[in-house]
Amino acid sequence: MDFKAQKSEYFTTLDMDEIPTAWYNIQADLPEPLPPPLDPTTLKPIDPKLLERIFAKELIRQEVSTERFIKIPEEVLDAYLRLPRPTPLYRARRLEKFLKTPAKIYFKCENFSPTGSHKTNTAIAQAYYNKEQGIKRLVTETGAGQWGTALAFACTIFGLKCRIYMVRVSYQQKPGRRTIAQLYGAEMFPSPSDQTNFGRKLLRENPNHPGTLGIAISEAIEDTVTHEDTRYSLGSVLNHVLLHQTIIGLEAKKQFEIIGEYPDVVCGCIGGGSNYAGFCYPFMMDKLKGKTETEFVACESKAVPHTTKGVYTYDFGDTAEMTPLLKMLTIGHGYACPPIHAGGLRYHGMAPSISYLIYKGYMRSVAYHQTEVFQAAQILAQAEGLIIAPETAHSLKFVIDEALRCRKTGEKKVIAMNYSGHGLLDLGAYEQFLAGKLMDYEPEKIEVPTIVE
Ligand SMILES: Cc1ncc(COP(=O)(O)O)c(C=O)c1O
Repeated sequence: MDFKAQKSEYFTTLDMDEIPTAWYNIQADLPEPLPPPLDPTTLKPIDPKLLERIFAKELIRQEVSTERFIKIPEEVLDAYLRLPRPTPLYRARRLEKFLKTPAKIYFKCENFSPTGSHKTNTAIAQAYYNKEQGIKRLVTETGAGQWGTALAFACTIFGLKCRIYMVRVSYQQKPGRRTIAQLYGAEMFPSPSDQTNFGRKLLRENPNHPGTLGIAISEAIEDTVTHEDTRYSLGSVLNHVLLHQTIIGLEAKKQFEIIGEYPDVVCGCIGGGSNYAGFCYPFMMDKLKGKTETEFVACESKAVPHTTKGVYTYDFGDTAEMTPLLKMLTIGHGYACPPIHAGGLRYHGMAPSISYLIYKGYMRSVAYHQTEVFQAAQILAQAEGLIIAPETAHSLKFVIDEALRCRKTGEKKVIAMNYSGHGLLDLGAYEQFLAGKLMDYEPEKIEVPTIVE
């Protein structure tokens, strides 16, 4: 190990010139190729060329690539350095002390980004490749607004127009992120909106429709295919999005090397799977090569139990059935996700590679109710002074339980968690928690229609 780095009792940092210069592609190391995406009309493997009307060409190439490392363009590296990256690895010693645990708890700090989460890592890459291709406008959807603000931010950097369909209930409940995206110059519409045929149809049926992420995706895709010079951008689930996020885990691996440790447990929260995959895949590479026995734990909401109760099958990514079919763990594209405060975890499906790894037993998943998750967040606030995003708090709940288990057994486990975002724009949710007004949800039954036999 000869990295130029700083190590204190609390933070391990990397010098800027130690930033990884290539992303890691797990498709090179999976025991078998992932099942291909299917064309929604023919149900046959989709010709990647057909996706060129929706995504930038380079992103499609990355989506299907099996190259192990993909070089990060200079312009993207430069934008990463200004976020800033590399982000620190933090040892949560006060939390350890508070829990009286012999376990060591590490957080990889993605909360330091200008919009407050990991989402900028792929937003920057996607905006860059679209600009390089001569695209003028990007369209996307957003739930709670983390992804929308990140893409709006990246579009300002690369001089692209940006339009965002924001799930209506979040548009009303979370004005903070809406305002940030608008300050960056993005157009924001509550979804369902009057801007698309699909949105207008839903509004005719129910003028107060609360919206879902699946509906907002359908609107964004309809907008994309009906406007020249426009492409669509997705903030999670797809291989290329997860690929861009591996900058997180690649940095973390170097930082653990500096400390002279290797995590026994690597955990993170999962909405569509991007932050957790980005953090854990560089470590998973070692496990897939038989070098380590590290445990991988993906944490989700009991209200949206896509990996703990879902079915591993082909499903649509959106509600209007416009997207290619992906083989994934899903609770069905028609699932009406309950209004939990962790908006980023309200998606019916899961990234195909995460789904595969869970299905094959390389990683496991756990699910929590929002009340216990917010209680974990309060412990962290009082132990460390950190206000965590409700999404990220799902993995914090696991970390606390695991650390307490270690207290009983005396195990000195090294627990690593991706701290995917801060919760400073989620204070409305915390206010409801403190007032005792949070509700827990759990579907009684999951029914996933079979689309492909
Ligand atoms: C802070 C934070 N963490 C996690 C997620 C979940 O998304 P993903 O699973 O793609 O990382 C989101 C989504 O918006 C988020 O904002």
